[in-house]
Amino acid sequence: MVSKMGALEHSKINEKTEMPYYKPIGNEVELFERAFRHQLPVLIKGPTGCGKTRFVTYMAAQLNRPLYTVACHDDLTAADLVGRHLIGHESTYWSDGPLTRAVRDGAICYLDEVVEARKDTTVVLHPLTDDRRILPIERTNERLQAPPEFMLVVSYNPGYQNLLKGMKPSTRQRFVALRFNYPTPSVEQEILIGETDIDENLAQRLVNLTNALRQLKDHDIEEAASTRLLIYAATLIKHGFDPVEACRAALVEPLTDDMETVEALMEVVLATFGTRQQITEKINPK
Ligand SMILES: Nc1ncnc2c1ncn2[C@@H]1O[C@H](COP(=O)(O)OP(=O)(O)OP(=O)(O)O)[C@@H](O)[C@H]1O
Ligand SMILES: [Mg+2]
Repeated sequence: MVSKMGALEHSKINEKTEMPYYKPIGNEVELFERAFRHQLPVLIKGPTGCGKTRFVTYMAAQLNRPLYTVACHDDLTAADLVGRHLIGHESTYWSDGPLTRAVRDGAICYLDEVVEARKDTTVVLHPLTDDRRILPIERTNERLQAPPEFMLVVSYNPGYQNLLKGMKPSTRQRFVALRFNYPTPSVEQEILIGETDIDENLAQRLVNLTNALRQLKDHDIEEAASTRLLIYAATLIKHGFDPVEACRAALVEPLTDDMETVEALMEVVLATFGTRQQITEKINPK
């Protein structure tokens, strides 16, 4: 799946700045700006829902560059990125892929979950991500020199990788790498308020609850509750849904299919948001 966006689409827009809302966690904004200025490709790794995509959207808007996002999957080939000949009415014609378009336009090309892509993509990524900065298009005999404004950004979730899917050192060592993680409670609280406008007290309780849930490691939980899920829970509660049921739907059920694990997590939820009646029902089920 490929999408081209003016970087402002799909994100909550900060009304004061007209930028996508993004709360920096560390030095990532400065690092990305410098990488852009000095034409260095960037790799972002981190768990699901921690802000990777939002960050890239925000940076594209900050730097005023168009953003081409490619959601990589295990069938994605070099031709999907570079382009191919298509059959027209009378003859075939060349159609640029998103990577080629991004190079021609001096845009930011963002390859999401890059480790999923087929290995033949490295053939086109390598000359583009070292000091040559060229995109060879074999089929048309072109060699595009990337303009200074072109930038390649890739991301992946280290948790999903298996040995076969890991990136080769010769690929990963072509990037400046940033590690993302879930933010500290006070920053996550601020993000939650920034995204949903819930009050501070509710934000604090939700963040504390999420952190308590994150502590509960279970073999059945592949990855802890993300900032994204926290925002879902806050959105449901803000619009009047019962807090315990909102947390079940947003912070518990998406993590696991195992009923025992769900019950264990729900005990933590009840301790934070349970009404007397809900707690009594839990102790003495009908
Ligand atoms: N630092 C942040 N500032 C503002 N919003 C954030 C931040 N971090 C996370 N979010 C919120 O969390 C949601 C999920 O973030 P995002 O979609 O960027 O995650 P991701 O890391 O790309 O996840 P995935 O690997 O699943 O694609 C965003 O829609 C946004 O609401
Ligand atoms: Mg993403």
